[in-house]
Amino acid sequence: MTILAIETSCDETALALVKANGGLKAPKFKILKNIVLSQVAVHRPFGGVVPKLAKREHEKNLPFVFLRLGKIQKPPDCIAVTVGPGIAPCLWQGIQFARELRKKYFPKTKLVGVNHLQGHLYSFFLTNHKQHILFPAIALIVSGGHTMLLLGRDVVSWKKIGETRDDAAGEVFDKVARMLRIPYPGGPEIEKLARKGNTASVFFPRPMLKTKGYDFSFSGLKTSVLYYLRKTTGENNSFEFRAPKQFVMDVAASFEAAVFDVLSRKTIRAVRVFGARSVLLSGGVAANRHLRNIFRKECRKAGARLIATPPKLCGDNAAMIAVAAYVAHVKKTTLQLKAQPNLTVK
Ligand code: KG4
Ligand code: ZN
Repeated sequence: MTILAIETSCDETALALVKANGGLKAPKFKILKNIVLSQVAVHRPFGGVVPKLAKREHEKNLPFVFLRLGKIQKPPDCIAVTVGPGIAPCLWQGIQFARELRKKYFPKTKLVGVNHLQGHLYSFFLTNHKQHILFPAIALIVSGGHTMLLLGRDVVSWKKIGETRDDAAGEVFDKVARMLRIPYPGGPEIEKLARKGNTASVFFPRPMLKTKGYDFSFSGLKTSVLYYLRKTTGENNSFEFRAPKQFVMDVAASFEAAVFDVLSRKTIRAVRVFGARSVLLSGGVAANRHLRNIFRKECRKAGARLIATPPKLCGDNAAMIAVAAYVAHVKKTTLQLKAQPNLTVK
C-alpha cells in the first residue's frame, strides 16, 4: 500500500509518501518522497519553540510542502497524520490539513491517526539493516520531547518501563546550549563543540543512575551546569557570560558525557535484567554520533544487537509516521482522529 503521511506535532512541517508491504516479521518500506521543512529559523530568536508561531508556520507551509511532493499519480491507500503527543494547535493543524486533502483530492482514501512516539519507535524499519530485530528488545526514544525506555516482546507488543520525570534529554541539550550562548536547537552544536572538548574536565552528576527502575531525570543536571558556569565565570546571569572557546568545549563535552552515561547505563541495565537481544535507538538526540558510538560499544559488551535509526530519520519526519501507520494497519488498531497532546505509549 502507499501511505501519504503528515507530521506537524512540533516545529517540523513534514510530509512523506511511503510504499509498504509484507507482514510484520519482515515488512518492506520504500520512501518515495520525504520532505521536512524545519521552522528552526523562526523559533531561534526565542531560544525554543513558540507554539503560536509553530501553528502559524504549519498552516502556511503545509500546502507548499504538499506541492513539493510533486504529482501523486494514483490516490494513496491511506493518509496518516500524527494526532499526538505534541503541541495541541500544531496537531490540529495537521489533522485539519489531512481532512482537507482527503476531501479535495482523495475522497476514497482512508484517513488514520498515528502516535508520534510509535513513529520514532518503528523508525528502525527504515534502516538498511540486513539483520532483523531479535526479541525481547529494549527501545530508547530520546528526543526534545521525550526520553523513554520500552520493552518489546514482539514487533507489536511494547510496554513502557521508564521515562523522564522532568525534562527530556534533548530539551536539556537545548537549555544548556542557551546557557553557553549557542543558538537553538543546541543538540547538534553541542555535539560539534564536545568533539574538541575534554569529557573529564568537569564531573557533572548522573541523576537517578543508582535509583531502582528505569526512570530518568535531567533537570538537576541542567541546574548543575548553570551553577558551574556561575561559579567559574563569576557571572550571575549565565546568558551574559563570555568564555574562551576551549572552556565551552570542555563544558559541552562533560555535559554530553553525563547525559549519555545515564542513557546508556540505564538502557544496558534493562538489557541485562530483561535478557534483551536487541536495542533500538531513535529520536532527535539519537542522531548524535557520540551517543551512537557509546551504544555500539556497550551493546556489543552486553551481547545485544544495536539497531539505530539512520541519523537523517532520527529527528521528526513523516516517513516514520507512515511506518507506524502501516504497523497499526496490519495490527488493525486505530486512533481517534483528534489532537491528543498527552498521548503516550502504555
Ligand atoms: O525528535 P526530534 O526532532 O523532536 C522531538 O520529537 O522532540 O528531536 C529534537 C531534539 C532537540 O532537542 C535537539 O536539540 C536534539 O533533538 N538533537 C540532538 C542532536 N540533534 C538533534 N541532541 C544531541 N545531539 C544531536 N546531534
Ligand atoms: Zn519526535
